[in-house]
Amino acid sequence: MAVDVRIGGALAVVTLNRPEALNAFDGGQIERVVEAFRSLKEHREVRAVILTGSGDRAFAAGADIKEMAELTEAEGLVFGRRGHVMASAIETLPQPVIAAVNGFALGGGCEVALACDIRIASDRAVFGQPEVGLGIPPGWGGTQRLTRLVGPGLAAELILTGRRVKADEALRIGLVNAVYPADELMAKATELAQAIAKNGPAAVRGAKRLVQLAYNGQQGAGLETELQLFGRAFGTSEQREGMRAFLDKRPAVFSDD
Ligand code: CAA
Repeated sequence: MAVDVRIGGALAVVTLNRPEALNAFDGGQIERVVEAFRSLKEHREVRAVILTGSGDRAFAAGADIKEMAELTEAEGLVFGRRGHVMASAIETLPQPVIAAVNGFALGGGCEVALACDIRIASDRAVFGQPEVGLGIPPGWGGTQRLTRLVGPGLAAELILTGRRVKADEALRIGLVNAVYPADELMAKATELAQAIAKNGPAAVRGAKRLVQLAYNGQQGAGLETELQLFGRAFGTSEQREGMRAFLDKRPAVFSDD
């Protein structure tokens, strides 16, 4: 279980490395990602960062459902906030971050990709916000960032149904900038990172902030409300059933109360 950081010249590659759980984020993994991005901030020689997942199956299959399954409301809120801190560490890194999405990017995995400046994907990538099927709303920024990226109608459809989106559709709806054969993804990500890294570093850092300002204006209030509703979902019969069903490998059965 790890987050690997490899710095080579002006580029850094951060790899989510927890393949036994399809790179899902438990508390320890969240802290490691935060730590990795905080330390990259100090590496002024790094001009662009690539974030990817280990193995050929997943970028990240979301927040760790085993860890979330028995959380209380208060603990759910804390877990949500830790995810927000992680997404923010990526989003506010002065250097641009490219998500090289090499497989499943579901729930918190999709939300982490959304916190990156640019997303490219392998033809095996699958995106989605399946949280409502687990009895919780998305909680790490997906309701705000996906909506801004693909528009409210499509975001509502994806978030309210939990439908998965394959790479070709992700490209069509603007969730990713480009799709490549799996074995070319990292080379293409490196090319893109190099094209950024050759530019004026202060100009790039400033431009990254300005692009974010263009669409992030009122995001703060939405993120805070998202966090409150995410926390409130924990301890409910709906959340317990949704997550227990996943762990038991059976479909969830939700009642009305
Ligand atoms: N949390 C914990 N463990 C996970 C996981 C997750 N999010 N996703 C996968 N795993 C584990 C599985 O439990 C399994 O472990 P075991 O071998 O010990 O049983 C292992 O990874 C391999 O997964 P599968 O056997 O399920 O592999 P598959 O090929 O049949 O299915 C998948 C792959 C479709 C990605 C499926 O694993 C899946 O649906 N995962 C959950 C995706 C999900 O719902 N993510 C959202 C989580 S909620 C969230 O992220 C909240 C938020 O907003 C922050």
